[in-house]
Amino acid sequence: MNIILFGPPGAGKGTQSQMLVARQGLRQISTGELFRAAMKAGTNLGVQAKAHVDAGRLVPDDLVIGLVDEVFQSLKGASFILDGFPRTVPQAEALERQLSRHGLSIGRAVFLQVARDVLLERLAGRRVCKACGATYHAKAKPPQKEGVCDVCGGEVIQRSDDRESVVSTRLQAYDESTSPLREFYRTKGTYREIDGVGEAEDVFRRIQKAVS
Ligand code: AP5
Ligand code: MG
Repeated sequence: MNIILFGPPGAGKGTQSQMLVARQGLRQISTGELFRAAMKAGTNLGVQAKAHVDAGRLVPDDLVIGLVDEVFQSLKGASFILDGFPRTVPQAEALERQLSRHGLSIGRAVFLQVARDVLLERLAGRRVCKACGATYHAKAKPPQKEGVCDVCGGEVIQRSDDRESVVSTRLQAYDESTSPLREFYRTKGTYREIDGVGEAEDVFRRIQKAVS
């Protein structure tokens, strides 16, 4: 089944997607990860996205939609999780057109509900592996050896857009542009709302229940 995971910054979309990939073989399509990779590689897309991502603003819809379209072309039948896309109503409308063009469908659109104070705590403590993207938290889930990824031995760092000043812009972008997506999906039979607070394993079980 193809799944959309959506919710505010820090809701656990990446964490839960990584669990779904490891345990159920789904393919993760994270537009945030794709932008960070493009920025690191210095591609044309990366250069265009950089100023927006660094400032915590959304990347313009046409760039995001084009990027996802390229990924859909390379799927070769794999089931996928959309992590961080769509993030605006125009993106959700474009996704519907893309899906029908590629002969694909979404089984569940899962919204992860997490209170603002918990989000702030998670984002302030988040650490990521520079090499493989594995996600940690300074207090809740530190790597076994400080600064070193358990998975690949890469360097574990703080994401530059997790600085306090940028986080507030990201949360504002969420409130203005992404939260209306709940109404967009609520009217569809695929919509499920999940409590995203608690142990990651408990959240994972709730997601599994919602998608079964
Ligand atoms: P993106 O990378 O998608 O960032 P985001 O949506 O802000 O979401 P995050 O990655 O911050 O949070 P998450 O929900 O994945 O949480 P995580 O699992 O890491 O996008 C970055 C930027 O790219 C955007 O700002 C924008 O500029 C651009 N962009 C991307 N997509 C776009 C689009 N479609 N349109 C336009 N622009 C786009 O968890 C966070 C922390 O909490 C971690 O430390 C984790 O260990 C911890 N944690 C997770 N779950 C739990 C739990 N259950 N209990 C305790 N701790 C937990
Ligand atoms: Mg993420």
